[in-house]
Amino acid sequence: MQTENDKPKNGRPKKAVVTTATFTEVARHDWNSENECGLFMASMIKMSKYMTALEIGVFEGETSQHLINALPKGGQYIGIDINDYRTDLTKATMSTGGKSIDFILGNSHNELAKLPSNHFDLIFVDGDHSWESILPEFKLVERLVARGGVIVYHDTIHLDGPRKLVEYAANYNYNNVTLNTTEGRGISILHR
Ligand SMILES: C[S@@+](CC[C@H](N)C(=O)[O-])C[C@H]1O[C@@H](n2cnc3c(N)ncnc32)[C@H](O)[C@@H]1O
Repeated sequence: MQTENDKPKNGRPKKAVVTTATFTEVARHDWNSENECGLFMASMIKMSKYMTALEIGVFEGETSQHLINALPKGGQYIGIDINDYRTDLTKATMSTGGKSIDFILGNSHNELAKLPSNHFDLIFVDGDHSWESILPEFKLVERLVARGGVIVYHDTIHLDGPRKLVEYAANYNYNNVTLNTTEGRGISILHR
């Protein structure tokens, strides 16, 4: 019989987890970016003294936590997701004092148009990876990036949409570097 606890939450089936006194590991969903991607962007924020970060596609918020924790006092983080899958730890991190932190529940195609121009030092794009979505979304993202800022795409090695986007942007004077990641998914930094 299905109990309240077994019901899908926010459309994602909840997996039954069996643990023992010696086995307490919980499965990690592969929609989460590799941890190293979050650590890498956190280093970029600290190294370049970035103040403003935007993430498109928050999911459980493992990367969001890295971005938020790396921002200095007075820094700003905005995360947009069409669903709210955030874990309790992510929600707690998003309540960190001394920083401006917002989670916007909505479609990036609608929400990005409401954000200020030339504003974000780092924009991490990791939502809908289809070409049909990622191309018009890129045109909205371009307006938001601050002078000297970077647009970072995940999955640019193993998924066609993001890979094609990096090639497309190169035709519009974006320099880019694509790095391999621990699970071979790839991360690309766009800058001009
Ligand atoms: C791969 S997960 C994001 C993983 C997260 N950035 C990380 O690094 O762990 C993709 C997320 O994008 C969200 N998404 C898909 N299409 C979207 C859209 N059009 N606007 C906003 N969020 C979207 C999904 O709900 C999902 O949570």
